[in-house]
Amino acid sequence: MDVYKYFRAFLMRLDPEQAHQLTLRILKTGAGPHQSVDNPALFVNLWGREFRNPLGLAAGFDKDAEVIPALFNMGFGFVEVGTVTPVAQDGNPKPRIFRDIANKSVINRMGFPGKGLANFWENISFYRARFKGIQGILGVNIGINKEAASPYSDYRHCIEQLAEYADYITVNVSSPNTAGLRDLQGGEVLDKLLAGLVKVRDAAAKRPPLVLKVAPDLEAAQRAAIAELLQRHSIDGLIVGNTTVTRPDKLDAKLKEEKGGLSGQLLRDLATERIADFYKLTGGRLPIIGAGGVASADDAYAKIRAGATLVQVYTGLIYEGPQLVPDILNGLVALLQKDGFTHISQAVGIDARAAKAA
Ligand SMILES: Cc1cc2nc3c(=O)[nH]c(=O)nc-3n(C[C@H](O)[C@H](O)[C@H](O)COP(=O)(O)O)c2cc1C
Repeated sequence: MDVYKYFRAFLMRLDPEQAHQLTLRILKTGAGPHQSVDNPALFVNLWGREFRNPLGLAAGFDKDAEVIPALFNMGFGFVEVGTVTPVAQDGNPKPRIFRDIANKSVINRMGFPGKGLANFWENISFYRARFKGIQGILGVNIGINKEAASPYSDYRHCIEQLAEYADYITVNVSSPNTAGLRDLQGGEVLDKLLAGLVKVRDAAAKRPPLVLKVAPDLEAAQRAAIAELLQRHSIDGLIVGNTTVTRPDKLDAKLKEEKGGLSGQLLRDLATERIADFYKLTGGRLPIIGAGGVASADDAYAKIRAGATLVQVYTGLIYEGPQLVPDILNGLVALLQKDGFTHISQAVGIDARAAKAA
């Protein structure tokens, strides 16, 4: 029996943010599901690290790194906590999360609420001390404060503090809810930012891979410029992508005027197209983490075939519940078998490669 089905009906009657807070409280007690799918066809070797499967939890669910063990117990191969900002802040006024249930989508304009870097550091250092063995790969997503005098200093501060504990660090320049943040995706600004942050990372005792998270709304010229910069600065990976500021026709009319980023099913195909674009632009050499509207094994597989080495979910979890994790993983094993692949790596970018050969 999928207990979450009943719990979901209850959660959907609550305000979305209250539902999220309640979910976190339950996960903190350890009452979340314990499930795993262990199949060698799904192991991913990346950055010298072994991912037990390619499915991760996207940033924004566990902003303060409070429930990491419970998230790994759900079966994720990797978990990305954050976005963390140097100083605690409230974020935007509530309400700031809106559901489009018919389209299994969400608009949010959270604006990086969180308890700040010191508290986050406590949480992940405590987690590392407690779980000496590897539960899974832990990514840390870093951002800037609303009042940041210098974005570079904010990111630098986060990298310096967290490099020791992160299996990888995501530089988030793509949330639509912090004024000016997405401008950091522009050529010259990004060039300087990446040059600086790579130096900060290289000065750390442990040197975690640096990953950039971009918006799905970038124009073709911006995408080409970013792809070039990522390779020039030897950035280790790219997350494609964040929420979209576009408003598809299908979106619930009541939500069309709500500011913020759209995620879930209505973002799915746009995100997959962008993954394919970046895969081609980087010649398949740059590891891509695909995110946006994944809510089934087919969705995850489409992202992998477009060029994603790893895949993340967030909104799908809200609508489908934690059973989604084993469902996607078991489904992926079946899809690989159907296509005659013995390992997930064989499917990465296969659609782009097939298009080139044609
Ligand atoms: C409520 C909410 C909060 C989010 N917060 C963050 C965040 O703090 N940092 C970030 O990089 N992405 C954040 N995201 C974006 C997700 O990580 C993900 O990139 C995006 O939602 C697309 O995936 P999905 O369609 O599976 O949700 C948030 C998304 C949602 C729905």
